[in-house]
Amino acid sequence: MRRRPRRNRSNQGVRSMVEETKLSTENLIYPLFIEDGVGVKTEIKSLKDNFRWSLDTLLPEIEACVKLGLDKFVLFPAVKESLKDSIASYSYAQDNFYLNAIHKIKSEFPQLSLMSDVAMDPYSSDGHDGLVKNNRILNDETLPILAKMAIAQAQAGIDILGPSDMMDGRIGFLRDELDASGYSDTSIMSYTAKYASAFYEPFRDALDSAPKSGDKKTYQMNPANKNEALLEAELDFQEGADMMMVKPATCYLDIIHVLKENFDIPITAYNVSGECAMIYAASEKGWLDYETSMYEMLLSIRRAGADGILTYFAKDFAKFQQ
Ligand code: PBG
Repeated sequence: MRRRPRRNRSNQGVRSMVEETKLSTENLIYPLFIEDGVGVKTEIKSLKDNFRWSLDTLLPEIEACVKLGLDKFVLFPAVKESLKDSIASYSYAQDNFYLNAIHKIKSEFPQLSLMSDVAMDPYSSDGHDGLVKNNRILNDETLPILAKMAIAQAQAGIDILGPSDMMDGRIGFLRDELDASGYSDTSIMSYTAKYASAFYEPFRDALDSAPKSGDKKTYQMNPANKNEALLEAELDFQEGADMMMVKPATCYLDIIHVLKENFDIPITAYNVSGECAMIYAASEKGWLDYETSMYEMLLSIRRAGADGILTYFAKDFAKFQQ
C-alpha cells in the first residue's frame, strides 16, 4: 500500500494542520429572547440554559457573552397576548419594549452586530407570519406591514434585518422602503430557504407564537424541495439580500451546500431550536456527550458551506473554547 491516509491522522499536530474546516466563535450568532418587565429570567423548558430575559437581566448576560468572545446576537420578542392584533401593530408601536431594548443594547454595546426577526407571528393574534383573511395568508398586503416593522427596527439600531416570513417579493420591497427612509446601511439577511419544519416547536413554545389555526405550509417551503431553494435564492439575490440563510440546518446541509456553490454572497444557516433540543435531551439522558456532539453538529453545518450559524449552542461553544 503506497497510499495510507491514516498517516495524515497520526497525531494531533498533523490532524490540526490538515483540518479542512475551521469553526470558531466568530462564525456564531446567538439568539436571545426578550420580554417586557423587570427581573425576568425564565428558562425555556426545551432549551436548556436558554432564557426569556427582561432588559435589566439581559444587559449583564450580554456582557458575559461578550467576555466569552461572542459579538453577534439575534433578538426575539415575546409579546403579551393582549398586545397582539391581526395587523401586528405593536411591532412598530412607539412604546414597543423590543425596539427600546434594541436601542438600549446598541447604545451600551455599539461594537456588537444586532440582528432582528422580521415577521408578523410574535405580534399577530393569528400567530402567522403574514396577514390572515378568510383563512388565507395574504402576500402583497403583508409587505407594507413588514416594511413598517423593518424601518422601526432599523431606526432602533438593528444592524442586520432578518425577514423570516417567506412572503414573495419581500426582500426587494424592504430594500426599497429602507433606502427611501434613509436606512441604506442596514443589512438584510434573508431567511431564503426556510422550510415548513417540525423542528421549530421549542421556539414557538418560547415565544407562545404558534399559529392559532392551520400551518405555515403555504409560505414556508416543502422539505422535499431543492430546486425551489435555488429559485428563492435567485430572487433574494436579485432583490438585494446581503446574506442568505437556510433554515433548519442539519437536515438541510445539501441546501446550504448548493446555495454556497451557486451564489457569491455569504450563506448562513439557522441551527434551530429542535435541533439543539435533541442534543440537550440526549446528553441529559447520558446518550450523547454534549460538548463533542454539539461541536460535530456545528462543524458539519460549517463544512456544508455556512459562513455564519445562528445557534443556541453559541454561548456554550464559546465557553468550551476558553
Ligand atoms: C418566526 C420564526 C420562527 C423561528 C425563527 N423565526 C418559527 C416559525 O417560523 O414558526 C424558528 C427558530 C427556531 O426554531 O429556533 N418567524
